[in-house]
Amino acid sequence: TAGEVAQDLKEVVYCVGGFVRDLFLKVPNFDMDLVVEGDGQKLATELAERLGGKVRVHDRFRTAVVTLPDGTKIDVATARTEYYEYPAALPKVEKSSLKEDMYRRDFTINTLAICLNPGHFGDLIDYFGGRKDLMNGSIRILYNFSFVEDPTRILRAIRFEQRYRFTIEADTLRFARDAIERRMLGRLSYKRILAELILILNEKDPVPALERIRGTGVWKYLLPEIDVDDVSWKTIKRVPVVMGWWEEQYYSRKIKPWLIYIVVFFAQLSFEQVEAEMQRYPFDRYAKGCIMDSLGIPALAEDISRRSYLSPSDLDKMIASVTNENLIYLLLCIKDEEAWDRVARYLDLKDKIELEVNGYDLLELGLKPGPIFKEILDELYYLKLDEKIHNYE
Ligand code: CTP
Repeated sequence: TAGEVAQDLKEVVYCVGGFVRDLFLKVPNFDMDLVVEGDGQKLATELAERLGGKVRVHDRFRTAVVTLPDGTKIDVATARTEYYEYPAALPKVEKSSLKEDMYRRDFTINTLAICLNPGHFGDLIDYFGGRKDLMNGSIRILYNFSFVEDPTRILRAIRFEQRYRFTIEADTLRFARDAIERRMLGRLSYKRILAELILILNEKDPVPALERIRGTGVWKYLLPEIDVDDVSWKTIKRVPVVMGWWEEQYYSRKIKPWLIYIVVFFAQLSFEQVEAEMQRYPFDRYAKGCIMDSLGIPALAEDISRRSYLSPSDLDKMIASVTNENLIYLLLCIKDEEAWDRVARYLDLKDKIELEVNGYDLLELGLKPGPIFKEILDELYYLKLDEKIHNYE
């Protein structure tokens, strides 16, 4: 449809970036980026109208985001056009505007474009040898000062390298090392550092990237307050394993993977140091609460492991308000197999049971409202958790 809209508007539209890269790698990718040679905002508005979606435009960057009814997001950017400079050679200029847009990007593997216009649908445009680098598994920058211009690209290079098991090409690695030595990452704000760190930690298995970060001297720019040698790497390596198990069991309990790693990293800090981290990094409210609560998790794990018996309702009283991320951290801290099984069983039961009685039922029974209501409902809930009463079938 985007191609048809472009055709009607006498523009050219390309699908670019990560989507095309992942198409070649046969990796699913649901983020669609379009580049329009012409007026991207106009195309986005028209596209949203035809597909029944919504559009949000950002004038400053000449970009727009189309959200389709199914939630799919399409980013639409405008390629710089230079009609005035070369009025006589329009077709050539149209091409070069896409080229210029691609040239400003991070790595060659992200510079592939596929034309969507009818008649040229599916034409691959590869100005910088991106396809060859994709096939060879090379991460290559487009111009020498790429890392100086945007130091987050050092972290992106490591992220892509480890995600696809690619290699940072030799010259690119040299420029990256040079930028690291010149402390370019030190220029980034904590906000940007955190955003990149979250992207790394949200990778399916971020451990190889973290090891690369450690090996290239980048760690001190990411989490300078954390002593890398003092991190429990054994625990970090178990995070993806436990998370995989969790997703299988409790897929409806959503988690923020990055937050689990952060909590494990911060385990070596004192209360005051954690508070200082909260000041530095712009964590959201949920993350802040989670990190603060995580300080009590190792003691809780010890307590649970030490007791010879804990019923599901006993556990509920101890951990009902613990966030999912901290529950995983708790499981990581529990070494005792029996204690682990007890917590897992409690989580299973908690997901299954449902209280059919509520305050209105108690009112109907003629009870006077007050704290007693909560007590009765809690007690019923505990009885169910402990399987002393069963769901009404
Ligand atoms: N980009 C860049 N420099 C950056 C960030 C992004 O040049 N510091 C470019 C990349 O070429 C990328 C595009 O902007 O293809 C979109 O960025 P983003 O959505 O972050 O990247 P994806 O390639 O889609 O990566 P991911 O698969 O991790 O979402």
